[in-house]
Amino acid sequence: MAGRLEGKIVHITGGGSGLGDAMARLFGKEGARVVVSDLNMEAAQGVADLIVQQGGDAIALAGDVSSREECESLIAETVKQMGGIDVLVNSAGVTPRYAPPEWDFEQTWDWVVSVNLKGTMMMSRFAVDEMKKQKSGSIVNLASIIGLVGYAQGISDGFNPYPHTKGGVVQMTRDMSIALAKEGIRVNSLCPGFTYTPLVTTLVEDADMHERLKSLHPMGRLGQPAEIANAALFLASDEASFITGANLPVDGGYTAQ
Ligand SMILES: NC(=O)c1ccc[n+]([C@@H]2O[C@H](COP(=O)([O-])OP(=O)(O)OC[C@H]3O[C@@H](n4cnc5c(N)ncnc54)[C@H](O)[C@@H]3O)[C@@H](O)[C@H]2O)c1
Repeated sequence: MAGRLEGKIVHITGGGSGLGDAMARLFGKEGARVVVSDLNMEAAQGVADLIVQQGGDAIALAGDVSSREECESLIAETVKQMGGIDVLVNSAGVTPRYAPPEWDFEQTWDWVVSVNLKGTMMMSRFAVDEMKKQKSGSIVNLASIIGLVGYAQGISDGFNPYPHTKGGVVQMTRDMSIALAKEGIRVNSLCPGFTYTPLVTTLVEDADMHERLKSLHPMGRLGQPAEIANAALFLASDEASFITGANLPVDGGYTAQ
């Protein structure tokens, strides 16, 4: 039986860890030819090797999405090595919780914006140039519940760049989707609730915070990466052929409250 992404060339940024890793492995099983890129080349290579071991087709690339030159070369290498690009998944992302402690609020804000928001824009910009040539493509952005609603009381001081960038990705998704609809390019985002990946490790290591986060989701738990990957697979594939400009919560009911 043909996979749900059979033969599609998919580039996943941040593919070396967490949600990117889960999506890369699932997409590989569904017949995609996967380009796993990450700042951490060792991690990206590990994921690509696993896909190949499981009988799939994958390569790894090193690249920093906050660099214009590296975004341009990530897409150019994808086209050179795979022959084009059908799907771009913008999963590379950072949280201010992991900023070097010596940074002040402005350096931290600039860093998170340059990766989460500007990186998503720049990767899309270069991918769209290629997708326009073939008059088809699908972009899946990793936004967040925190791009749709503010942080719950006591979790942020209002100056946290993370919700600022994720709100930007939600609006970028809408705006690009309208501009690119006539080109045959769909642009959607996923808005995951808190999901068990290295990004949230420091939060869930704190037992009180872990319980609080669980209780904020009506389902009473956090998400698993595979649950986000299943939704990404749908949005990336032709099954979602009439869906563009959507920001889909995958959040155990968090944003329904
Ligand atoms: N885990 C969650 O609860 C959650 C919820 C909502 C949204 N998200 C979003 O999903 C995406 C994936 O998050 P995750 O939980 O898998 O995090 P993660 O930390 O497990 O993985 C993020 C990956 O991005 C890579 N990365 C960081 N900076 C980069 C850069 N400048 N260039 C290229 N790669 C870079 C990291 O090396 C890492 O491999 C992020 O955009 C995140 O904001 C996560």
